[in-house]
Amino acid sequence: MPIIHHHISSLQQTLKPLRSQQRIALVPTMGNLHAGHLQLVKMAKQQADIVVVSIFVNPTQFGIGEDFDSYPRTLEADVAKLDSVDADYVFAPSIDEMYPVLPPPTKVIAGAIALQLCGESRPTHFDGVGIVVAKLFNIVQPDVAFFGQKDYQQLAIIKQLVRDLSYQVEIVGAPIVRAEDGLALSSRNQYLTDAERQTAPVLHQALQDLAEQLAQKIAEDSFDEVALQSLLTRATQHITKAGFAIDYLEVKTTDLQPITFEASTLKENQQDLVILVAAKLGQARLLDNQVVKIN
Ligand code: PAF
Repeated sequence: MPIIHHHISSLQQTLKPLRSQQRIALVPTMGNLHAGHLQLVKMAKQQADIVVVSIFVNPTQFGIGEDFDSYPRTLEADVAKLDSVDADYVFAPSIDEMYPVLPPPTKVIAGAIALQLCGESRPTHFDGVGIVVAKLFNIVQPDVAFFGQKDYQQLAIIKQLVRDLSYQVEIVGAPIVRAEDGLALSSRNQYLTDAERQTAPVLHQALQDLAEQLAQKIAEDSFDEVALQSLLTRATQHITKAGFAIDYLEVKTTDLQPITFEASTLKENQQDLVILVAAKLGQARLLDNQVVKIN
């Protein structure tokens, strides 16, 4: 069984003597673990000697009226799952332990990258992710940390944080883990009713279709703003017809910059693209993305 620490000091005391000889990995989570999280831990076990999994439902990343209160807290079941993948330590602090003053007067502002996409409807979300991840890095001082690529924008913001605040931690983005029908695994999938769960894979199908059509347009040199708009309209219809309310459906460069509309430039630079979507189905807000390789 992984050893559980609820306090920063006890975790740090445990890790201190290990640090010089052993590579420490951190897998930050908000608990309610699924196969996607366990995959991160398995990857971490392969790349480090010691794996610390943090489980903390972070209040600063939830906006007013969001699901902070109802977010599933399932520590006992999570620890059992972590045992099955040989995690070494679980760090499960209380809110007071993490935030002696809440909201914390010291801020981590993620900037422009955080204001687009999810940031348009959740303007303070990534600042909350930024401060908690910064604190976790300071507490655990990992050599390497693992995040899922499903939260594509979050991963980009964490890489920016590491660059800007000079953290000596390697960031590994792990491929999206999907159910057999293609739905990206997420703790929030459990908000779906049975009927919605049947419909939910449409999101992934629509992104796959869009990715194929986009790659084809670029290959044929017939990619421009009008072509993109028409592909986006078709994908939007596909998704909304299934019952989703789309928050955003956008195409960006893989570093989340606006795209150029010259197919020749995209091809010459081998500029891969990423399609990103957030859409609500009933109570669940689902995220997904698909990288489009350009060569
Ligand atoms: O992706 C998550 O589960 C959370 O945003 C994270 C990175 C654990 C920070 O609370």
